Amino acid sequence: MDKANLDWPNLDFGFRSTDYNIRFHWKDGAWSEGRLHTEETIPLHMASTCLHYGQECFEGLKAFSLKNGDVAVFRVEENAKRMEASCKKIHMQPVPHDMFVDAVKRVVNANRRFVPPYGSGAALYVRPLVIGIGPRIGVRPADEYMFIVFVTPVGPYFKSGFKPVNIIVEEAIDRAAPQGVGDAKVGGNYAAGMRASIAAREKGYTEVLYLDAKHKKFIDESGPANFFAIKDGKYITPQSASILPSITNMSLTTLAEEMGLTVERRQVPVEEIFEFEEAGCCGTAAVITPIGSIQFRDRKVVYGDGVTPGDVCQKLYKQLRSIQIGDVPDTHNWLTVIPKEEPRGNARSGPAPRATSRPRKDVVPV
Ligand code: PLP
Ligand code: COI
Repeated sequence: MDKANLDWPNLDFGFRSTDYNIRFHWKDGAWSEGRLHTEETIPLHMASTCLHYGQECFEGLKAFSLKNGDVAVFRVEENAKRMEASCKKIHMQPVPHDMFVDAVKRVVNANRRFVPPYGSGAALYVRPLVIGIGPRIGVRPADEYMFIVFVTPVGPYFKSGFKPVNIIVEEAIDRAAPQGVGDAKVGGNYAAGMRASIAAREKGYTEVLYLDAKHKKFIDESGPANFFAIKDGKYITPQSASILPSITNMSLTTLAEEMGLTVERRQVPVEEIFEFEEAGCCGTAAVITPIGSIQFRDRKVVYGDGVTPGDVCQKLYKQLRSIQIGDVPDTHNWLTVIPKEEPRGNARSGPAPRATSRPRKDVVPV
């Protein structure tokens, strides 16, 4: 099948339509068979818990075209685990791991023509999400859920790509509380961070660096990515209950150790930024985005010349990308090859399974 006609090397991190998304419906104690849909909108009851009480979580992973012609997704099992944890944290029906992995395989396979070609630098971004649906007005979990996976071809999250960004330490706004849901990939965390990100952009910074909400002393993470730094042969990354456990960061700690660095996952006092040799943001969308400078109150630290990625960032980036696109052997089994098969499950245009409209006994005060 011919590839879609897109300007692959110049894609940004924006939504582009593809052929199919896949949807599953939890109702009466069971998940439905997944169905492929071409429709991009979802019929939703206006009293759904996802709309009012934030019962929503999502994931993000990437599919790549490999050097040998296969298509593979990176560390999908880890995303399955994290989505289960996110669902449980906000009392939603967890998605079984096998169903998650199967859904990702099916939707990527059905959208093969949107997987960017090998060597283009782009990827097919895979976005699974779970939402509480069906009418409910009391603050209680929904009893129906929808699990959807859609895909969209993307370029780098930060438009600079693998070029250092300038960020600012955010002290006035917290993204998440230590015993809240900062470690879950729930939509509310992102809504909570928007005003900080927008204010930073208005001041000319690419993103913010959050501090821990309790002590306002230790680095947490950036808006869409984890934080890491390099000092004295060490890969240092924050330990915190309120940050998302990044799968990219987990992978980088492995690669860093293989390169002979010592990994330290610990509380990182914000003043330590003035001691680091290199720093970076890491995540599925951000990959590794080197940090050129960090503004903290009236002081600014610049890493290297501020515009060239540091040596360690470059090495880590190259190794991660090489594994993801099959340029070097996948010794850790991080890739899952997507089998080529006839799309299963009603690949047709049509509405998503509709939330039932039967009356519910959900008006009981909580
Ligand atoms: N932190 C936040 C808040 C994120 O949204 C993301 C993106 O998923 C990450 C960190 C990086 O996580 P991962 O590497 O699993 O994509
Ligand atoms: C990802 O990196 O996959 C994310 O979900 C971050 C998001 C802000 C794009």
